[in-house]
Amino acid sequence: MQVKIVITTIAFMLTMIIFGYASIREPARMETFTNAYEGRRIEWGGDIFHGNCATCHGEHGKAELCYDAEGEQIGCAGLALNNRELLCGERTPRMEAMGWLGTKEAFIGGTITAGRPWANMPTWGSDFGGSLQPYEVGYVTAYVLNWEDEELCAGPPPEPVIWPSTVPDLIAETAAGDAVNGEQLYNVAYGCAACHGDPVVDGSNAVGPWAGNFQNLDEVRVAGYTAADYMYESILEPSDYISPDCPAGPCAGPPSSMPANFGLRMSFQDMVDIMAFLNVDVSSSSGAEIVPPPAE
Ligand code: HEC
Ligand code: HEC
Repeated sequence: MQVKIVITTIAFMLTMIIFGYASIREPARMETFTNAYEGRRIEWGGDIFHGNCATCHGEHGKAELCYDAEGEQIGCAGLALNNRELLCGERTPRMEAMGWLGTKEAFIGGTITAGRPWANMPTWGSDFGGSLQPYEVGYVTAYVLNWEDEELCAGPPPEPVIWPSTVPDLIAETAAGDAVNGEQLYNVAYGCAACHGDPVVDGSNAVGPWAGNFQNLDEVRVAGYTAADYMYESILEPSDYISPDCPAGPCAGPPSSMPANFGLRMSFQDMVDIMAFLNVDVSSSSGAEIVPPPAE
């Protein structure tokens, strides 16, 4: 009798200990499980990114290292996503610039779903006729958001980039143009050559006007503009003036079929380096105000 009670008591206590321990472990187990699931989502998102997005946004989402289907390096058409403007802070500079009032996740997921067809960002969500199911958009959004980290976001939030108003203001903020670097930017990094051709081979332009002629556009397109003024405006605001000189006659537009986001992609120095490569004389300017100064 005594022995039975002792055994039952011990069994009861053991059961309590085991259950008790399991219930204490439960939140930790749930967390490991959730983290593992989140990790898997990011991994699946990475596969989607490399299959669909890296051709335009670059291997590491930095708008560098874009390759076509044959493995040839090409200019990146998309913006950098792995960058502070898009990812750092609650209200990021990009959300501010686009007037977005929702969350960062919704901004990124919504942009992927709907695309920006007017700006060469394709529509991905199946609800809008794209090739990704909503859960796949969720995975690739998680992958993009995962680039936000302490190193990337260290220091105060970046100021949105505002281009100097005039060409003289631009050269005041840059070193002398480097034509060798300009050539690489023109051919590879920004892929201008794909549309504007080889500047020493007349007629090599496939889509836009021939770049060999850009140096000759003093007063030609816009009264009072030098070639440098005109080129500065053409790159930052392609739709402001539509060229009459495309391979098959007057260019289409507005809107221009030239990507409108170079102002978000290139540095001030890149701009003068490309002008140096194309023999556009930056020191000659009418001082025309190309970019409105920021409102006070
Ligand atoms: C054909 C090229 C192209 C492909 C492919 C592409 N994008 Fe884009 N994407 C762009 C361009 C161009 C923009 C900038 C549009 C603009 O100027 O507002 C952009 C913008 C974005 C933005 C908003 C960035 C910002 O700062 O406002 C996100 C997010 C994005 N893309 C994610 C993706 C994802 C994810 C994929 C793959 C599923 C993808 N893109 C595939 C060209 C592309
Ligand atoms: C996808 C094709 C495409 C790419 C890439 C492109 N452009 Fe253009 N560009 C055009 C088209 C089309 C026009 C004519 C329509 C217009 O006037 O906006 C044009 C117009 C211009 C003009 C005005 C030319 C004139 O004769 O009036 C300049 C200057 C120019 N682009 C420079 C550049 C530079 C520099 C780059 C690279 C940083 C570049 N473009 C990238 C298509 C492109």
